[in-house]
Amino acid sequence: MSTIRLPEATSPLRSERVAAVLGIALGLTFTTCFMTGLLSHQIQDPPSWFSWPTRPAGLYRVTQGVHVATGLASIPLLLAKLWSVFPKLFVWPPFRGWANGVERIMLLPLVGGAVFMLFTGLANINLWYPWPFNFRRAHYWVAWITIGALVVHIGAKWATTRAALRRPPAPADAAQRADRQDRRQFLAATFGISALVTLFTVGQTVRPLSRLALLAPRRPDVGPQGFPVNRTASAARVVDAAQSDDYRLVVDGNVQQQLSLSLADLEAMPQHEATLPIACVEGWSTSQRWGGVRVRDLLTMAGAPHGSEATVRSLQARRSYRTSELNSSQAADRDTLLALRVNGEPLHLDHGFPLRLIGPNRPGVMQTKWVERLEVR
Ligand code: HEM
Repeated sequence: MSTIRLPEATSPLRSERVAAVLGIALGLTFTTCFMTGLLSHQIQDPPSWFSWPTRPAGLYRVTQGVHVATGLASIPLLLAKLWSVFPKLFVWPPFRGWANGVERIMLLPLVGGAVFMLFTGLANINLWYPWPFNFRRAHYWVAWITIGALVVHIGAKWATTRAALRRPPAPADAAQRADRQDRRQFLAATFGISALVTLFTVGQTVRPLSRLALLAPRRPDVGPQGFPVNRTASAARVVDAAQSDDYRLVVDGNVQQQLSLSLADLEAMPQHEATLPIACVEGWSTSQRWGGVRVRDLLTMAGAPHGSEATVRSLQARRSYRTSELNSSQAADRDTLLALRVNGEPLHLDHGFPLRLIGPNRPGVMQTKWVERLEVR
């Protein structure tokens, strides 16, 4: 088969073995990313058959930390893989028969999808959205396309991968020995960079490594009251409503007695404390000691039936995440709170003053801030 000669096409760093080793690493990171991403999506938009448990309290922190860490570790791997197979994309003729044609066409969604997933993921953890589409929907659907194309690619390259990974024959001469050494160094450098990217970012969720989180967009110990804020009260346009003397928490819906509680009423109720993480979908997480009123106490006070679910509404009038859902086990959990305090202090306005939801094993975006209403079902 003839190829259009590219300047680097003859680089000794390129080989089927290099492509196969990088491919396997990408297969592992992409599959892990896909599974953890799918889980996060189901937790936020649960289908009827799916119920996410409240324990272990820090499970989402782990799954989403792994999602972001494997996504970031994939970036150097993908760049190295694409560089190593780049000349293959220009072979001529482009197809050898139908099966090869399908395999080659599937490279479009594979390469396009992989680049799209890693670029949008990286932009999202930096809270940068330079596109007109909805990030979550696009990231979710392109993930399915990419994984579908990856399955086809693995099927097509299975035999080549197995053959390439068999023990290679001994190099015939010094030049071949040097080439093999160079390829080993190329792979070692790629895996080394990928490991360093992980080491310098994973501290955003693994507390003992937090000092090393030099490349992470967020330090988990920086922000008002010692931890980060994604959306401030002024960005959410709730500054006046949250500080108003007329503030009331309303509990209504499927209840025997509708409640309308002032801050003083909430303070006078039995208070409960729990150490729970805020585990952000963008991969950072931080544990704090929260204090406030149990949701289940409020439901009992309002006469809600056993096994009730609830929608938690924020003072925020517009934009996404102004409501979140509590399934029956979340609503009944002893540690699901409407928090008035964090680490013994009243909540900072940007952390949700006067009242925020905090519950075990929930994504940060579902720990609704500036709560004004519990709608019981
Ligand atoms: C996001 C993941 C991946 C991307 C974007 C990707 C991309 C590519 C591309 C563009 C090619 C050149 C295709 C051609 O023209 O024939 C290729 C070749 C190859 N890939 Fe992948 N790949 C990925 C994952 C994998 C996995 C998981 C494996 C192994 C199980 C793998 C093994 C191979 C092999 C053996 C080749 C042939 C290299 C050669 O002929 O020199 N790849 N890959």
